[in-house]
Amino acid sequence: MKKPTIVITENFHPQVIKAKLAPFAKVLYANSNDDLKFYLQKADGLISLVTNKIDKKILNYGKNLQVVGNFAVGFDNIDIEECFLRKIKVINTPNVLTQSTAELTLALAFAAARRFPEGEALCRSHRFDGWHPQMLLGQELYKKNVAIVGNGRIGKAAGKLFKAIGCNVNFVSSKEQRTQVIKKLKAADIVSLHLPYNSKTHHWLNPQKISYLSKHTIVINTSRGPIVDETALIKALEQKKIFAAGLDVYENEPKIPKKLSKLKNVVLLPHLGSATETARKAMAESVISGVLQVLDGKKPKNLVRVKPRKKL
Ligand code: GLV
Repeated sequence: MKKPTIVITENFHPQVIKAKLAPFAKVLYANSNDDLKFYLQKADGLISLVTNKIDKKILNYGKNLQVVGNFAVGFDNIDIEECFLRKIKVINTPNVLTQSTAELTLALAFAAARRFPEGEALCRSHRFDGWHPQMLLGQELYKKNVAIVGNGRIGKAAGKLFKAIGCNVNFVSSKEQRTQVIKKLKAADIVSLHLPYNSKTHHWLNPQKISYLSKHTIVINTSRGPIVDETALIKALEQKKIFAAGLDVYENEPKIPKKLSKLKNVVLLPHLGSATETARKAMAESVISGVLQVLDGKKPKNLVRVKPRKKL
């Protein structure tokens, strides 16, 4: 039987690709967007990253494309409705990165609460001149109220970890009544965002919701940047309307506004949620096996379900 042709946009896990993909498919590595357009013309499958925008224009090149496997759990980079209309299956990599992302959430919460950026800057600039009783006092997380926004897999796993260190956890679902959301935000010492990004969750944390937070609140975002109105968050941090933020994602990623990087009360990471060796290996195995299953006529377990576009 002829091997299927699969385009990859990055050598996302060389060992797993070598062992689990290369023996079963002709692998074309698209090094640029032009390469991608060219190779897609012969491709049966595509494995994309969150940084690849798979929109109608790109899909137009994939005349024989049967499957797009996203090396991520989030798939807001893919026009899934367009894929649905073209009968292209979309798969993602849930579960295997839940724990690593939840752990990073806690790491950001600790780092923001204990003022890591300021402490690090002091040490790295050789200005640390000895222990002082009033130096860089932060906050303990024990017994604090955590509002977990989004009760999917990662939100639940982060909630479990916060509970394990003695926090009170409240889940805020995207469908929750406004009055309930306001109540939970007002009571929150930590607001941790775990929503998938779509038109309904765009700027979920907007100026109004930020205005319900208090001076000691910490905002954590390990989901998607545009869920937060970044300009409004920067303003709140500058004016010390909230205590701090821990961010792994940005509104116009990979751009980080200068105003944000200059702030002391914010911990900034370069989208590392799933960046553990365990998670990235499992993601590679998961996406490869899903794409090969589709091309073999089988039903993969991580198929993204699409609600057909409503007729206007
Ligand atoms: C990473 O951001 C992912 O969605 O897996």
